[in-house]
Amino acid sequence: MNIGIILAAGKGERFGGGIEKQFCYLNNKMVIDYSISAFEKVKNINQIIIVTSEKWIEKINKKYPKHIIIKGGNTRQNSAFYGLKACPENTVNVLIHDAARPFIKTAIIEQSLLHLKKYQAVITSRQATDTIMRVENKKIIKMENRKNFFLNQTPQSFNYKLIYNAYQKEQKNVTDDISLINLEKIKYKIIEGSNYNIKITSSEDLLLAESILKLSK
Ligand code: CTP
Ligand code: MG
Repeated sequence: MNIGIILAAGKGERFGGGIEKQFCYLNNKMVIDYSISAFEKVKNINQIIIVTSEKWIEKINKKYPKHIIIKGGNTRQNSAFYGLKACPENTVNVLIHDAARPFIKTAIIEQSLLHLKKYQAVITSRQATDTIMRVENKKIIKMENRKNFFLNQTPQSFNYKLIYNAYQKEQKNVTDDISLINLEKIKYKIIEGSNYNIKITSSEDLLLAESILKLSK
């Protein structure tokens, strides 16, 4: 089985406002609905698991009766682990996606699944286009070569046992899933994400998302 896990238990502290960013309306749908619908369109995704906060469970359950809806944790990492624990026994691959990225293309999901036949992990990423400098305590430590820097997006996709064991074992705090994997021990593939696959983080990003939506029509 190939499982899509959609993480939607964040509080959106940087976004601010009363409602969590993944449940804000973008046109006439909620931000989260876009990624759910992208995963639903991919026929080789056998089950979708939505990880969210307690107060949304009932609503999301009603709207998406076919999917598994579970409660998340205090951090993205905890939520992802709960998602992994909720996977059916015969899960072979998992694709972990941020609900805050509404513009994920079905082609990226399909490509990730295809590469999982050969690789144990597939990371969606974009090469940096801005110049990057390492800054610590407001001091520039080093000017970096942007060619060597990639900005990670989601989905990040894995052989289920590999990522499950990594989550079970690792203690360090990370902001994505591939950070927990011992990369020397596996075969992985970096695939090209998209400039449109933004993560809604601050409130201006919702305006940006509205523009992207218009462009894609
Ligand atoms: N997420 C989650 N559980 C958490 C924290 C985050 O499922 N405890 C999810 C978010 O809902 C989001 C994705 O992980 O879809 C990426 O996290 P991020 O952009 O950091 O969202 P928030 O944590 O909600 O935002 P902030 O960090 O500004 O509070
Ligand atoms: Mg966060």
